[in-house]
Amino acid sequence: MASGEGGRLRVVVGITGGIAAYKAVALVRLLVLAGHDVSVVATPSALRFVGKPTLEAISRNEVGTDLYEGVAEVRHVALGQAADVIVIAPATANSLAKLAHGLSDDLLGTTVLASSAPLVVAPAMHTEMWENPATVANLALLRERGVRVVGPGTGALTGKDVGAGRMAEPEEILAATLAAVRPQDLAGRRILITAGGTREPLDPVRFLGNRSSGRQGVALAEAARDRGAAVTLVAAHLEVPPPHGVALHQVGTAEELAVAVAGFAAEADAVIMAAAVADYRPAVVADAKLKKEALGEEHELRLIRNPDILRALTSGELAPSRPAGQVVIGFAAETEQDPERILAVAREKAARKGVDFLVLNRVGWAEGFATAENAVTVLDGHGSIVGEAAGDKLSVAHRILDVLV
Ligand code: CTP
Repeated sequence: MASGEGGRLRVVVGITGGIAAYKAVALVRLLVLAGHDVSVVATPSALRFVGKPTLEAISRNEVGTDLYEGVAEVRHVALGQAADVIVIAPATANSLAKLAHGLSDDLLGTTVLASSAPLVVAPAMHTEMWENPATVANLALLRERGVRVVGPGTGALTGKDVGAGRMAEPEEILAATLAAVRPQDLAGRRILITAGGTREPLDPVRFLGNRSSGRQGVALAEAARDRGAAVTLVAAHLEVPPPHGVALHQVGTAEELAVAVAGFAAEADAVIMAAAVADYRPAVVADAKLKKEALGEEHELRLIRNPDILRALTSGELAPSRPAGQVVIGFAAETEQDPERILAVAREKAARKGVDFLVLNRVGWAEGFATAENAVTVLDGHGSIVGEAAGDKLSVAHRILDVLV
């Protein structure tokens, strides 16, 4: 099983025949965008609602339907055996009945039976069917066996009726799916994460910035959310979409980031400062666009030091009422090439910043920024190496959280 260790999961998305199947396309898309390997298993009736080419294009994998396809690779059990998690959305009343009784007359049925992975179902049906004692009993049986049920919500159904039975939204199903497979070792914890790079304005159209894309901070927010934490993400100019299910607070400059951290840190069990904060800002911010005629052939910029937010946090100056035992994790992006010297720089930084942990990553023209992969070394406050991780930014995020836990 790839869960915990790896960021990338093998997810089977089962789609059964209900009108909400069109929303399953969005679920598949969200899973793929989050970096997971998705195999869709659709029942023949599901394919009356959404086309196979759509599902294959969105999932980037072949879509299985028929028990008698892919027999040579023993597809009817292989998908289930390899899955880290199976999610069925929509799960019709009929499919819940079949699941409850272990029927396996189609590829989805055999896939589920052949799997020991967590199973998540997102029921969708008309209210009468949802409330029918047969469905109620089937669902109770499934819950008893550890199947996780997400939704349904109450709202407009296919016809003119309104009531219980509306499939949960794709984002909610995604969150439930990932939560089913990740350890819930941050449940009940409040985690503040900063991500992205601050921009310090020079005039209304220009700024001093850095190359941070926010990917590692966003991956940390996703990973912490999936492990049960209540996450606040303070985001400065992200180049990637912020994750669903976290409290998002957008900032522009280092000073705005400082104000946000001061506020949210008072309530956080852990603070992870993944943002690349500008150390300096222009002394003067022009009200109108700076013009070459006025600046001449050479122009000198005067810069002023920004506050060191991390240091101010650990010294107690920034958020005096922060909770006792709050864990603070800083980042150090360094260009030093020599392995010994880069560690020495990081050790000095960990001590100077007063952090509990420091995540060191080497950056350069082609390393670290705006890439999907990362390689980090985690040091504790005394400079001892307590973790190392390399790979996609989601796996790296999970390793960092393992250290935090
Ligand atoms: N940081 C901060 N406030 C700043 C600068 C950095 O809180 N004004 C935080 C970053 O979010 C990061 C850590 O401090 O978690 C280290 O940032 P880095 O830029 O590597 O450290 P600096 O103190 O700026 O040292 P250097 O002189 O190496 O840039």
